[in-house]
Amino acid sequence: MAKELHPVAVRGGVVHFGDRAVLHGVDLVVDPGRTVALLGANGSGKSTLVKTALGINRLSAGTAELFGVPVKRFRDWSRVGYVPQRLGAGGGVPATVREVVSAGRLSRRRIGLPARRADKAVVETALEAVGLADRAGDAVATLSGGQQQRALIARALVAEPRLLVLDEPTAGVDAASQEALAAVLRERAADGVTIVLVAHELGPLEPIIDRAVVLSHGRVVHDGAIPAHTGIHPHAHATEEQRLWT
Ligand SMILES: Nc1ncnc2c1ncn2[C@@H]1O[C@H](COP(=O)(O)OP(=O)(O)OP(=O)(O)O)[C@@H](O)[C@H]1O
Ligand SMILES: [Mg+2]
Repeated sequence: MAKELHPVAVRGGVVHFGDRAVLHGVDLVVDPGRTVALLGANGSGKSTLVKTALGINRLSAGTAELFGVPVKRFRDWSRVGYVPQRLGAGGGVPATVREVVSAGRLSRRRIGLPARRADKAVVETALEAVGLADRAGDAVATLSGGQQQRALIARALVAEPRLLVLDEPTAGVDAASQEALAAVLRERAADGVTIVLVAHELGPLEPIIDRAVVLSHGRVVHDGAIPAHTGIHPHAHATEEQRLWT
């Protein structure tokens, strides 16, 4: 039987912003069903790497494949769930939490058909899982940063992807919600879903991680067990401007 394809494979990835290289030949090849944490200090290139893996950032050298397909030619986006580091600045869109989460289900629905009862049930379950059921009818703009992040996680979950890429899913999220998220991810991992998550502090996510990749200045400096001490600190010193770039 053919070996199962790597959900994520970046090889020799080099990324420039202008003249400046921010990834210098990075390898990130993830076996199916693994749960990988991407660690590293602010600005080390974590978000750039996941965005490159998903074809959002352009490579100046190296290759990026999703499920064995060069990312430029990849079309099967229903297999991929992506939670960006923070909600885009489009705060003017008065969408409710439920609408944002339901949007994640679009790839599963037949074009042009309204949501079925089953779709609605999946959305409600995901809202429960991230602890936002009571806010479902509220405008997303009225949620805190951590709650918005949870809405994006629910949106990714409802698509039932085979690959979940989460950029700092626990940043600004309280301990109880982190535990809830860990439980949801553990369940997905048990279903064979491949998970790549960016984090500063693993906290309750630690037990579900089976591989840690540490970036420093755009290079992989560790790949294996979770390092005992990563020297990584949360966002405390990141300026708002730095955060907006990520
Ligand atoms: N769109 C962009 N244009 C120019 N520079 C960028 C852009 N995105 C990221 N950078 C730069 O690339 C470097 C890596 O940024 P990246 O967002 O990948 O870091 P990170 O590890 O995700 O950091 P954080 O922990 O703060 O999220 C930083 O120096 C950042 O300023
Ligand atoms: Mg980042």
